[in-house]
Amino acid sequence: MELPFSESYKIKMVEPVRRTTREERLKWIDEAQYNLFKLKSDYVFIDLLTDSGTGAMSDKQWSEMMLGDESYAGARSYTKLKDTIEEILGFPYFLPTHQGRAAENVLFSTLVKEGHIIPGNSHFDTTKGHIEFRKATAIDCTIDEAFDTTLDHPFKGNVDLVKLEKVYKEYGKEKIPFTVVTVTCNSSGGQPVSMANLKAVYELSQKYGIAVLFDSARFAENAYFIKIREEGYAEKSIKEIVREMYQYADMMTMSSKKDAIVNMGGFIGLKDQELYRQACTFNIMFEGFVTYGGMSGRDMNALAQGLREGTEFDYLETRIKQVQYLGDKLREYGIPVQYPIGGHAVFVDAKKFLPHVPKEQCQAQTLGVELYIEGGIRGVEIGTLLADRDPVTRENRYPELELLRLAIPRRVYTNNHMDYIAAALKNVWDRRESITSGYNITWEAPIMRHFTVELEKA
Ligand code: F0G
Repeated sequence: MELPFSESYKIKMVEPVRRTTREERLKWIDEAQYNLFKLKSDYVFIDLLTDSGTGAMSDKQWSEMMLGDESYAGARSYTKLKDTIEEILGFPYFLPTHQGRAAENVLFSTLVKEGHIIPGNSHFDTTKGHIEFRKATAIDCTIDEAFDTTLDHPFKGNVDLVKLEKVYKEYGKEKIPFTVVTVTCNSSGGQPVSMANLKAVYELSQKYGIAVLFDSARFAENAYFIKIREEGYAEKSIKEIVREMYQYADMMTMSSKKDAIVNMGGFIGLKDQELYRQACTFNIMFEGFVTYGGMSGRDMNALAQGLREGTEFDYLETRIKQVQYLGDKLREYGIPVQYPIGGHAVFVDAKKFLPHVPKEQCQAQTLGVELYIEGGIRGVEIGTLLADRDPVTRENRYPELELLRLAIPRRVYTNNHMDYIAAALKNVWDRRESITSGYNITWEAPIMRHFTVELEKA
């Protein structure tokens, strides 16, 4: 018999989780004003809100925590992380920050001015937030294929070069400080960008004198997909692929809470010394001295080790196969999901799932609430609430994709949990015809409203 696939690790420590009743969940979600961010984690049985900072560190990472050097300046932990970043990603200059959006804050404070244009592939919400906060504009240049959830395309995170060149021609390097390529592209469904596309974006940008920034939260998962799906990479190691990817970037921002499998941390990687010097000032102002930024020494140690483990094939294979296991189960049940399945999450197509709920009543959020009530599972809306209002017209933006994201934490849940999630969603699917109304907003913040929004039943 052929031996089945199984995980590349065993479990050394466990954390109990408690099942809850439907009656309890109905009460708690009402008290939370139908905002899943407002639920206490003790009220959640399986937490798929995010894969960010929710992973399980390895025994080696925990032992690195004990070796942290907490010196204010010039700590050994800083050097260890600096050397690891240079070795794995190829950036000679780096600045530690407390998480990904802090890296954006420091770097964008250096580079982004009012009136600037920043093209990219479906910018992540904090990235867009940091752009719009500075009165600049993010322009989405993702390929059209990404917006059809049923279409099979190996690299739905790719940048459309025609769209990108049009933006370059229209605004030029005076208005465009850089282009952001998000690997993998979270907002389009955890979809990868091919090596060929990374190279083409870089070459086009060079032609127009524009820098390229990789938003790198899930860079290793992107490299895994290149290895599995792109011709010519099957025999290359993940680390070789990662080095090649970063030949096509001038800068990177990193949320280490994803592919570096730590609970907190981030950094900026730079190739240009002058830019590094300018960014240092903002790092010192917002984060901390340049050799620790927003991190303690022990956190930098765990992060350095996480970068090594996170770029191992066996780990990535276990990780991504689990996400695909869940996605395949949902597809078996006929549930509409973004296909191919992404690296870190399964994205359920809420427009197709709940066509009777009006778009003004937040279809994906409605589905998220239903799944919570059904099984105590917490996903996150990637739809109308997240898309926010247009900063100029203040009208609601209705995105092409209205998704419920089920993000899978790294090395945390088993495939029994995946079966449970699939069954709960199947139950909601079976009663979908009876779900005809959603939720209206009763209060919202002026920017990034989805975190704190308050809702009532429509
Ligand atoms: N870029 C991408 C692609 C992200 O997915 C995130 C965070 C960030 C930047 C910001 O990083 O959270 O460390 O400040 N994504 C999380 C998520 C929150 O749930 O997808 P951060």
